[in-house]
Amino acid sequence: MKKNLVVVGYGGMGSWHVNHAQKSDVVNLLGVYDIKEERNEAAREKGIFAYDRFESVLSDKRVDIITVAIPNDSHKEVVIRALEAGKNVICEKPVAMNLCELDEMIDTAKRCGKIFSVHQNRRFDVDFLAMKQIKESGEIGQLINIESRIHGSRGIPGDWRGKKEHGGGMLLDWGVHLIDQLLQIMDGKLTKIYCEFDNITNTEVDDGIKLTMMFDGGQKAFVEVGTYNFINMPRFYMRATEGSAIIYDWTEKAKVVKCTNMHESNVVPVVTAAGLTKTMAPRTDATTKTYEIERPESDVHDYYRNFVKAVDGTQAQLVTHSQMRRVMKVMMAAFESARLGQTVDFDDNNN
Ligand SMILES: NC(=O)c1ccc[n+]([C@@H]2O[C@H](COP(=O)([O-])OP(=O)(O)OC[C@H]3O[C@@H](n4cnc5c(N)ncnc54)[C@H](O)[C@@H]3O)[C@@H](O)[C@H]2O)c1
Repeated sequence: MKKNLVVVGYGGMGSWHVNHAQKSDVVNLLGVYDIKEERNEAAREKGIFAYDRFESVLSDKRVDIITVAIPNDSHKEVVIRALEAGKNVICEKPVAMNLCELDEMIDTAKRCGKIFSVHQNRRFDVDFLAMKQIKESGEIGQLINIESRIHGSRGIPGDWRGKKEHGGGMLLDWGVHLIDQLLQIMDGKLTKIYCEFDNITNTEVDDGIKLTMMFDGGQKAFVEVGTYNFINMPRFYMRATEGSAIIYDWTEKAKVVKCTNMHESNVVPVVTAAGLTKTMAPRTDATTKTYEIERPESDVHDYYRNFVKAVDGTQAQLVTHSQMRRVMKVMMAAFESARLGQTVDFDDNNN
Protein backbone atom coordinates (compact mmCIF):
# COMPACT_ATOMS: atom_id res chain seq x y z
CA MET A 1 0.00 0.00 0.00
CA LYS A 2 1.19 3.54 -0.75
CA LYS A 3 2.53 5.65 2.11
CA ASN A 4 0.96 9.05 2.77
CA LEU A 5 3.31 11.96 2.13
CA VAL A 6 3.27 15.64 3.03
CA VAL A 7 5.80 18.03 1.52
CA VAL A 8 6.87 20.87 3.83
CA GLY A 9 8.07 23.89 1.85
CA TYR A 10 6.36 24.48 -1.46
CA GLY A 11 9.10 26.40 -3.25
CA GLY A 12 11.33 25.23 -6.10
CA MET A 13 12.30 21.82 -4.75
CA GLY A 14 9.05 21.31 -2.83
CA SER A 15 7.23 21.63 -6.17
CA TRP A 16 9.59 19.01 -7.62
CA HIS A 17 8.69 16.60 -4.79
CA VAL A 18 4.98 17.31 -5.31
CA ASN A 19 5.17 16.60 -9.06
CA HIS A 20 7.26 13.53 -8.39
CA ALA A 21 4.84 12.22 -5.73
CA GLN A 22 1.89 12.72 -8.06
CA LYS A 23 3.49 10.22 -10.46
CA SER A 24 4.80 7.88 -7.76
CA ASP A 25 3.84 4.24 -7.38
CA VAL A 26 4.82 4.21 -3.69
CA VAL A 27 3.61 7.46 -2.13
CA ASN A 28 0.29 9.22 -2.06
CA LEU A 29 0.50 13.02 -1.75
CA LEU A 30 -1.79 14.19 1.07
CA GLY A 31 -0.76 17.82 0.71
CA VAL A 32 1.79 20.51 1.40
CA TYR A 33 2.56 23.07 4.05
CA ASP A 34 4.52 26.28 3.46
CA ILE A 35 5.23 29.01 6.00
CA LYS A 36 4.16 31.57 3.37
CA GLU A 37 0.42 31.69 2.83
CA GLU A 38 0.84 32.68 -0.83
CA ARG A 39 2.65 29.40 -1.49
CA ASN A 40 -0.18 27.45 0.19
CA GLU A 41 -2.62 29.37 -2.02
CA ALA A 42 -0.51 28.52 -5.09
CA ALA A 43 -0.82 24.84 -4.14
CA ARG A 44 -4.59 25.09 -3.62
CA GLU A 45 -4.98 26.73 -7.03
CA LYS A 46 -3.44 23.57 -8.49
CA GLY A 47 -5.90 21.40 -6.59
CA ILE A 48 -3.34 20.34 -3.96
CA PHE A 49 -4.44 20.33 -0.33
CA ALA A 50 -2.46 22.82 1.78
CA TYR A 51 -2.39 22.62 5.58
CA ASP A 52 -2.85 25.96 7.35
CA ARG A 53 -0.36 25.14 10.15
CA PHE A 54 2.66 22.86 10.56
CA GLU A 55 1.07 21.50 13.76
CA SER A 56 -1.86 20.25 11.65
CA VAL A 57 0.60 18.19 9.56
CA LEU A 58 2.18 16.77 12.72
CA SER A 59 -1.17 15.83 14.29
CA ASP A 60 -2.55 14.26 11.10
CA LYS A 61 -2.42 10.55 11.95
CA ARG A 62 -2.58 9.58 8.28
CA VAL A 63 0.86 11.10 7.51
CA ASP A 64 3.59 8.45 7.18
CA ILE A 65 6.37 10.52 5.58
CA ILE A 66 7.25 14.21 5.63
CA THR A 67 9.62 15.57 3.01
CA VAL A 68 11.35 18.74 4.18
CA ALA A 69 12.22 21.15 1.36
CA ILE A 70 12.92 24.46 3.07
CA PRO A 71 16.06 26.64 3.40
CA ASN A 72 19.03 24.85 4.95
CA ASP A 73 19.11 26.64 8.30
CA SER A 74 15.54 25.53 9.09
CA HIS A 75 16.03 21.80 8.40
CA LYS A 76 17.03 20.77 11.92
CA GLU A 77 14.06 22.17 13.82
CA VAL A 78 11.45 20.98 11.33
CA VAL A 79 13.02 17.51 10.94
CA ILE A 80 13.24 16.98 14.71
CA ARG A 81 9.63 18.09 15.27
CA ALA A 82 8.46 15.76 12.50
CA LEU A 83 10.40 12.78 13.90
CA GLU A 84 9.13 13.46 17.42
CA ALA A 85 5.59 13.52 16.05
CA GLY A 86 6.18 9.97 14.82
CA LYS A 87 6.76 10.73 11.13
CA ASN A 88 9.46 9.31 8.88
CA VAL A 89 11.47 12.10 7.31
CA ILE A 90 13.20 12.78 4.01
CA CYS A 91 15.23 15.96 4.31
CA GLU A 92 16.57 17.95 1.41
CA LYS A 93 20.30 18.42 1.04
CA PRO A 94 22.42 19.63 2.72
CA VAL A 95 20.77 17.75 5.54
CA ALA A 96 22.03 20.24 8.13
CA MET A 97 24.27 23.26 8.66
CA ASN A 98 26.93 21.28 10.54
CA LEU A 99 27.76 17.93 12.12
CA CYS A 100 26.35 18.83 15.56
CA GLU A 101 22.95 19.53 14.03
CA LEU A 102 23.05 16.33 12.02
CA ASP A 103 23.95 14.25 15.05
CA GLU A 104 20.98 15.71 16.94
CA MET A 105 18.71 14.78 14.04
CA ILE A 106 20.11 11.24 13.82
CA ASP A 107 19.81 10.74 17.58
CA THR A 108 16.19 11.88 17.44
CA ALA A 109 15.41 9.48 14.59
CA LYS A 110 16.94 6.60 16.55
CA ARG A 111 15.15 7.57 19.77
CA CYS A 112 11.82 7.83 17.95
CA GLY A 113 12.40 4.68 15.87
CA LYS A 114 11.74 6.51 12.59
CA ILE A 115 13.46 6.43 9.21
CA PHE A 116 15.39 9.58 8.44
CA SER A 117 17.43 10.18 5.31
CA VAL A 118 18.63 12.92 3.00
CA HIS A 119 17.46 13.38 -0.56
CA GLN A 120 20.66 12.59 -2.50
CA ASN A 121 18.75 12.47 -5.78
CA ARG A 122 21.90 13.01 -7.82
CA ARG A 123 22.95 9.45 -7.11
CA PHE A 124 20.54 8.75 -9.99
CA ASP A 125 22.29 11.06 -12.51
CA VAL A 126 23.40 8.97 -15.48
CA ASP A 127 26.69 10.84 -15.94
CA PHE A 128 27.71 9.88 -12.40
CA LEU A 129 26.44 6.31 -12.88
CA ALA A 130 28.47 5.97 -16.11
CA MET A 131 31.68 7.04 -14.33
CA LYS A 132 30.94 4.69 -11.41
CA GLN A 133 30.35 1.83 -13.86
CA ILE A 134 33.65 2.46 -15.68
CA LYS A 135 35.57 2.54 -12.41
CA GLU A 136 33.85 -0.56 -10.97
CA SER A 137 34.27 -2.62 -14.15
CA GLY A 138 38.04 -2.15 -13.94
CA GLU A 139 38.11 -1.87 -17.75
CA ILE A 140 40.69 0.92 -17.60
CA GLY A 141 42.50 -0.45 -14.58
CA GLN A 142 42.86 1.13 -11.16
CA LEU A 143 41.64 4.67 -10.58
CA ILE A 144 44.37 7.29 -10.16
CA ASN A 145 42.26 10.41 -9.90
CA ILE A 146 38.82 11.68 -10.80
CA GLU A 147 37.56 15.21 -11.38
CA SER A 148 33.91 16.23 -11.13
CA ARG A 149 32.87 19.69 -12.23
CA ILE A 150 29.70 21.63 -12.53
CA HIS A 151 29.90 25.05 -14.14
CA GLY A 152 27.38 27.85 -14.56
CA SER A 153 27.72 31.55 -15.26
CA ARG A 154 24.94 33.26 -13.30
CA GLY A 155 26.67 33.74 -9.95
CA ILE A 156 25.09 32.83 -6.66
CA PRO A 157 21.26 32.99 -6.77
CA GLY A 158 19.82 36.17 -5.25
CA ASP A 159 17.65 34.36 -2.67
CA TRP A 160 18.58 32.75 0.69
CA ARG A 161 21.41 30.91 -1.08
CA GLY A 162 23.38 34.17 -0.98
CA LYS A 163 23.04 34.47 2.81
CA LYS A 164 25.44 32.73 5.19
CA GLU A 165 22.90 32.57 8.04
CA HIS A 166 20.54 30.50 5.84
CA GLY A 167 23.25 28.05 4.82
CA GLY A 168 23.98 29.68 1.49
CA GLY A 169 26.99 29.14 -0.74
CA MET A 170 27.94 26.57 -3.32
CA LEU A 171 29.72 24.09 -1.04
CA LEU A 172 26.44 23.38 0.76
CA ASP A 173 24.41 23.71 -2.44
CA TRP A 174 26.09 21.83 -5.32
CA GLY A 175 29.19 20.71 -3.43
CA VAL A 176 27.15 18.35 -1.27
CA HIS A 177 25.91 16.48 -4.36
CA LEU A 178 29.31 16.15 -6.00
CA ILE A 179 31.04 15.09 -2.77
CA ASP A 180 28.38 12.45 -2.11
CA GLN A 181 28.76 11.12 -5.67
CA LEU A 182 32.56 10.87 -5.49
CA LEU A 183 32.45 9.16 -2.09
CA GLN A 184 30.28 6.52 -3.80
CA ILE A 185 33.02 6.01 -6.42
CA MET A 186 36.19 6.19 -4.33
CA ASP A 187 37.63 3.29 -2.32
CA GLY A 188 39.70 3.54 0.80
CA LYS A 189 39.93 5.96 3.65
CA LEU A 190 39.90 9.69 3.13
CA THR A 191 42.96 11.19 4.81
CA LYS A 192 43.29 14.84 3.76
CA ILE A 193 41.21 17.68 2.36
CA TYR A 194 42.14 20.90 0.63
CA CYS A 195 39.56 23.48 -0.41
CA GLU A 196 39.56 26.95 -1.94
CA PHE A 197 36.52 29.17 -2.32
CA ASP A 198 35.59 31.70 -5.00
CA ASN A 199 34.01 35.01 -4.02
CA ILE A 200 33.56 36.55 -7.44
CA THR A 201 29.97 37.77 -7.35
CA ASN A 202 29.65 38.42 -3.61
CA THR A 203 31.75 38.38 -0.46
CA GLU A 204 29.28 36.75 1.95
CA VAL A 205 29.21 33.15 0.72
CA ASP A 206 31.32 30.97 -1.56
CA ASP A 207 30.07 31.20 -5.14
CA GLY A 208 32.48 28.51 -6.28
CA ILE A 209 34.66 25.82 -4.75
CA LYS A 210 37.70 23.76 -5.64
CA LEU A 211 38.00 20.79 -3.30
CA THR A 212 40.58 17.98 -3.33
CA MET A 213 39.98 14.80 -1.33
CA MET A 214 43.05 12.61 -0.79
CA PHE A 215 42.78 8.90 0.01
CA ASP A 216 45.09 6.49 1.80
CA GLY A 217 45.89 4.58 -1.41
CA GLY A 218 47.17 7.80 -3.02
CA GLN A 219 44.07 8.34 -5.17
CA LYS A 220 42.60 11.82 -5.42
CA ALA A 221 39.08 13.07 -6.05
CA PHE A 222 38.53 16.66 -7.11
CA VAL A 223 35.28 18.61 -6.99
CA GLU A 224 34.80 21.96 -8.67
CA VAL A 225 31.68 24.09 -8.57
CA GLY A 226 31.79 27.32 -10.54
CA THR A 227 29.10 29.95 -11.00
CA TYR A 228 31.14 32.35 -13.13
CA ASN A 229 32.25 30.14 -16.00
CA PHE A 230 31.29 31.26 -19.49
CA ILE A 231 33.03 28.23 -20.97
CA ASN A 232 32.45 24.95 -19.14
CA MET A 233 35.13 22.37 -18.45
CA PRO A 234 34.14 18.69 -18.83
CA ARG A 235 31.60 17.34 -16.32
CA PHE A 236 33.80 14.32 -15.42
CA TYR A 237 37.39 13.29 -16.09
CA MET A 238 39.02 10.10 -14.84
CA ARG A 239 42.56 8.76 -15.12
CA ALA A 240 43.28 5.14 -14.41
CA THR A 241 46.26 2.82 -14.81
CA GLU A 242 45.12 1.61 -18.26
CA GLY A 243 43.30 4.56 -19.75
CA SER A 244 41.19 7.67 -19.32
CA ALA A 245 37.47 8.45 -19.39
CA ILE A 246 35.63 11.71 -19.93
CA ILE A 247 32.10 13.06 -19.99
CA TYR A 248 32.05 16.47 -21.62
CA ASP A 249 28.52 17.41 -20.63
CA TRP A 250 25.90 15.72 -18.45
CA THR A 251 23.70 15.15 -21.47
CA GLU A 252 26.43 13.20 -23.26
CA LYS A 253 27.81 9.66 -23.18
CA ALA A 254 31.10 8.80 -21.52
CA LYS A 255 34.10 8.45 -23.85
CA VAL A 256 36.82 5.97 -22.93
CA VAL A 257 40.34 5.73 -24.31
CA LYS A 258 41.97 2.47 -23.27
CA CYS A 259 45.70 2.02 -23.60
CA THR A 260 46.32 -1.30 -25.37
CA ASN A 261 50.11 -1.01 -25.50
CA MET A 262 52.11 1.47 -23.43
CA HIS A 263 55.11 1.19 -25.73
CA GLU A 264 54.93 3.00 -29.07
CA SER A 265 57.43 2.86 -31.87
CA ASN A 266 57.80 5.60 -34.44
CA VAL A 267 56.09 8.39 -32.49
CA VAL A 268 55.53 11.31 -34.83
CA PRO A 269 56.47 14.51 -32.99
CA VAL A 270 54.12 17.47 -32.80
CA VAL A 271 55.84 20.50 -34.25
CA THR A 272 54.77 23.93 -33.07
CA ALA A 273 56.18 27.34 -33.95
CA ALA A 274 58.49 27.20 -30.94
CA GLY A 275 59.70 23.61 -31.04
CA LEU A 276 58.74 19.96 -31.20
CA THR A 277 57.58 17.29 -28.73
CA LYS A 278 57.27 13.52 -28.80
CA THR A 279 56.29 13.32 -25.09
CA MET A 280 53.03 15.16 -25.71
CA ALA A 281 52.31 13.83 -29.19
CA PRO A 282 48.84 12.24 -29.46
CA ARG A 283 48.60 8.48 -29.67
CA THR A 284 47.16 6.65 -32.63
CA ASP A 285 44.78 3.66 -32.80
CA ALA A 286 47.87 1.43 -32.87
CA THR A 287 48.20 1.65 -29.07
CA THR A 288 44.73 2.78 -27.93
CA LYS A 289 41.12 1.77 -28.25
CA THR A 290 38.45 4.49 -28.13
CA TYR A 291 34.80 3.82 -27.42
CA GLU A 292 31.66 5.26 -25.82
CA ILE A 293 29.65 3.84 -22.93
CA GLU A 294 25.87 3.60 -23.27
CA ARG A 295 24.11 5.83 -20.74
CA PRO A 296 23.13 3.59 -17.78
CA GLU A 297 19.47 3.01 -16.93
CA SER A 298 18.32 5.16 -14.04
CA ASP A 299 15.02 6.03 -12.37
CA VAL A 300 15.00 8.68 -9.66
CA HIS A 301 11.69 7.23 -8.38
CA ASP A 302 13.88 4.48 -6.90
CA TYR A 303 14.82 6.94 -4.14
CA TYR A 304 11.26 7.04 -2.76
CA ARG A 305 10.79 3.32 -3.53
CA ASN A 306 13.78 2.54 -1.34
CA PHE A 307 12.67 4.94 1.40
CA VAL A 308 9.23 3.30 1.59
CA LYS A 309 10.84 -0.15 1.80
CA ALA A 310 13.09 1.15 4.60
CA VAL A 311 9.97 2.35 6.44
CA ASP A 312 8.45 -1.13 5.97
CA GLY A 313 11.69 -2.70 7.20
CA THR A 314 12.22 -4.69 4.02
CA GLN A 315 15.30 -2.83 2.70
CA ALA A 316 18.14 -0.82 4.21
CA GLN A 317 17.89 2.90 3.49
CA LEU A 318 19.88 3.91 0.41
CA VAL A 319 21.50 7.01 1.92
CA THR A 320 22.66 5.87 5.34
CA HIS A 321 23.31 7.93 8.47
CA SER A 322 26.97 7.03 8.19
CA GLN A 323 27.15 8.33 4.60
CA MET A 324 25.30 11.49 5.63
CA ARG A 325 27.82 12.06 8.45
CA ARG A 326 30.80 11.39 6.15
CA VAL A 327 29.65 13.96 3.58
CA MET A 328 28.94 16.48 6.34
CA LYS A 329 32.40 15.89 7.84
CA VAL A 330 33.97 16.53 4.42
CA MET A 331 32.10 19.82 4.12
CA MET A 332 33.14 20.87 7.64
CA ALA A 333 36.77 20.02 6.81
CA ALA A 334 36.45 21.96 3.53
CA PHE A 335 35.26 25.08 5.37
CA GLU A 336 38.18 24.70 7.77
CA SER A 337 40.70 24.21 4.95
CA ALA A 338 39.41 27.27 3.07
CA ARG A 339 39.54 29.35 6.26
CA LEU A 340 43.12 28.29 7.08
CA GLY A 341 44.31 28.29 3.47
CA GLN A 342 45.91 24.87 3.99
CA THR A 343 45.36 21.12 3.74
CA VAL A 344 43.61 19.59 6.76
CA ASP A 345 43.65 16.01 8.08
CA PHE A 346 40.47 13.99 7.81
CA ASP A 347 39.39 11.37 10.34
CA ASP A 348 37.47 8.81 8.31
CA ASN A 349 36.62 6.62 11.33
CA ASN A 350 33.34 6.66 13.27
CA ASN A 351 31.27 8.11 10.45
N1 LIG B 1 18.08 17.81 -4.22
C1 LIG B 1 18.05 18.76 -5.13
O1 LIG B 1 18.26 18.55 -6.31
C2 LIG B 1 17.73 20.17 -4.70
C3 LIG B 1 17.52 21.18 -5.65
C4 LIG B 1 17.17 22.44 -5.19
C5 LIG B 1 17.06 22.70 -3.82
N2 LIG B 1 17.29 21.70 -2.94
C6 LIG B 1 17.18 21.92 -1.48
O2 LIG B 1 15.80 22.07 -1.16
C7 LIG B 1 15.66 23.00 -0.07
C8 LIG B 1 14.71 24.10 -0.53
O3 LIG B 1 15.27 24.77 -1.63
P1 LIG B 1 14.34 25.50 -2.70
O4 LIG B 1 15.18 25.72 -3.89
O5 LIG B 1 13.07 24.77 -2.86
O6 LIG B 1 14.09 26.89 -1.96
P2 LIG B 1 12.88 27.87 -2.22
O7 LIG B 1 13.27 29.19 -1.63
O8 LIG B 1 12.48 27.83 -3.66
O9 LIG B 1 11.67 27.26 -1.38
C9 LIG B 1 11.70 27.13 0.01
C10 LIG B 1 10.26 27.21 0.52
O10 LIG B 1 10.24 26.87 1.90
C11 LIG B 1 9.33 27.74 2.57
N3 LIG B 1 9.67 27.74 3.98
C12 LIG B 1 10.71 28.36 4.60
N4 LIG B 1 10.74 28.03 5.91
C13 LIG B 1 9.71 27.18 6.12
C14 LIG B 1 9.22 26.49 7.25
N5 LIG B 1 9.81 26.61 8.45
N6 LIG B 1 8.14 25.70 7.11
C15 LIG B 1 7.52 25.59 5.92
N7 LIG B 1 7.92 26.22 4.80
C16 LIG B 1 9.02 26.99 4.91
C17 LIG B 1 9.50 29.06 1.86
O11 LIG B 1 8.37 29.92 2.07
C18 LIG B 1 9.65 28.61 0.40
O12 LIG B 1 8.40 28.55 -0.26
C19 LIG B 1 17.06 23.46 0.27
O13 LIG B 1 17.56 22.71 1.32
C20 LIG B 1 17.85 23.19 -1.01
O14 LIG B 1 19.22 23.00 -0.77
C21 LIG B 1 17.61 20.44 -3.35
